[in-house]
Amino acid sequence: MAEPVKIFHDGCFPKVGLGRLKGFVTKTTTSIFFFFLVFIGALIWMDFPIIRGSPFSFTSSSSKTHPEKIQHERIQFPLNCSSFVNYMKAFEPKESSAKACPDYFRWIHQDLKPWKTSGITRDMIDRGIPSADFRLVIVNGNAYVERYRPSFQTRDLFTIWGILQLLKLYPGQVPDLELLFYCGDNTVIMKKDYQGHWAASPPPVFHYCGEKAALDIIFPDWSFWGWAEVNIKPWEEILRAIQKGAETIKWEKREPYAFWKGAPTSGDRGDLLKCNLSDKHDWHVRVYQQDWGKEIGQGFKHSNLEDQCTHRYKIYAEGRTWSVSEKYIMACDSMTLMIQPEYYDFFSRSLVPLQHFWPIRRENKCRHLIFAVEWGNSHTQEAQAIGRAGSKFMEEMLTMRNVYDYMFHLLNEYSKLLKFKPAIPPDAQRICAETTEQGLAKEFMLQSMVKSPSDKLPCTLPPPFETRAIRASLDVKKSKTKQVETWEANYWKKPDDKKQ
Ligand SMILES: *[C@@H]1O[C@H](CO)[C@@H](O)[C@H](O)[C@H]1NC(C)=O
Ligand SMILES: *[C@@H]1O[C@H](CO)[C@@H](O)[C@H](O)[C@H]1NC(C)=O
Repeated sequence: MAEPVKIFHDGCFPKVGLGRLKGFVTKTTTSIFFFFLVFIGALIWMDFPIIRGSPFSFTSSSSKTHPEKIQHERIQFPLNCSSFVNYMKAFEPKESSAKACPDYFRWIHQDLKPWKTSGITRDMIDRGIPSADFRLVIVNGNAYVERYRPSFQTRDLFTIWGILQLLKLYPGQVPDLELLFYCGDNTVIMKKDYQGHWAASPPPVFHYCGEKAALDIIFPDWSFWGWAEVNIKPWEEILRAIQKGAETIKWEKREPYAFWKGAPTSGDRGDLLKCNLSDKHDWHVRVYQQDWGKEIGQGFKHSNLEDQCTHRYKIYAEGRTWSVSEKYIMACDSMTLMIQPEYYDFFSRSLVPLQHFWPIRRENKCRHLIFAVEWGNSHTQEAQAIGRAGSKFMEEMLTMRNVYDYMFHLLNEYSKLLKFKPAIPPDAQRICAETTEQGLAKEFMLQSMVKSPSDKLPCTLPPPFETRAIRASLDVKKSKTKQVETWEANYWKKPDDKKQ
């Protein structure tokens, strides 16, 4: 599958950090800073000559200005406000009763738990600025953004676009708030830095993924509204296309192998290449490298996600951190073979092994993969059921409505913790959903636009997990994973001629 994500995201792009850049700048001379800027500008230019609709114009700036200011002036959000739009209009849902939200919404409480007793002060937020790309402020239904540094590609732009759509969907319902957002891959607020009696409280920073060791607050990633640089359409559109693609080849007719397509941007993915068919081995794995540079140059002919539902098994492998590819892979109706992930996004903590996917240990992947494929090919009913349950989760639990409701409840719960009155920063730019983008970015924005307010209430937020329930669900995951390990151990013990 197109694991687009990582290509850019990992390694090859100056991940750069403009965060690191900032620290660097303060420590060195401005001339080095400018060299670095030009260098990054050149990298972007060389590597991505035809990125469409890039919102960043790297113009020169005066060397006398403070670096933060420079970055601020350099970037404009192409989401103008030419006329006065206010999303505070009365919200009049036709239906007065609301459905319960999916179970994964319970993680909202869990992610906000570090601030549950202390609440959130402005000081706590300000301490997170070095980790953030921008501050989002909502006051009276209007959105404002204060930029700290450019994010990678159009991630920030599409994230903010998504928030503007939320304001249109539930006018007047999203409370006033201030929050920090980080658009990179890596987690930024690490638990270990905030432990111990004298430790400061962690700054709340919104981000796309989390891990055990981190306290980032997880928010749906930009790809739900589209990923223009690699031609991945907004989620509703691409999901429909993938479902159509999946219908063209019934499960039994698909290649009885495990498929992966992407860029080997992590150790796991590098390992995966070694499991490919060779003259010496057939691990029942077929991997293909995605060359995004070439794809971009040739109009994305060979990276269509809807053409990648051709195998009975599809492998999910993390890139640098979580990968947005998970939902596309799981939507295919093939059984997902998930290489034990370390990171999670807002919904993936509720996926259950053997129910939605088949777990694969990281060590000795090839061996585990061959067994998974053998098992599936000799338990076709069960394997299809796992594939179907995974796709059903993507289709029914991950509707755009649920994505918006998740954002709504997260922002709502977060705002309840604020101990100060949100205010518009002097440097902030008011943003509206009038885009001055062109090309694919504009096309995706038009496709993902919310056209009228909801006639329904948001779903009702389920209560927090009890600690016991979390432990129980972890136990279930562990025991199912153990089950697979036992099956596999027995399989390898059998003599070769009895293995089928
Ligand atoms: C949007 O704002 C930018 C910067 O303020 C301006 O240059 C541009 O002309 C505006 N576009 C529209 C369509 O209003
Ligand atoms: C894996 O093997 C297939 C089939 O031989 C081949 O087409 C493909 O290019 C190989 N993939 C890689 C990354 O070498």
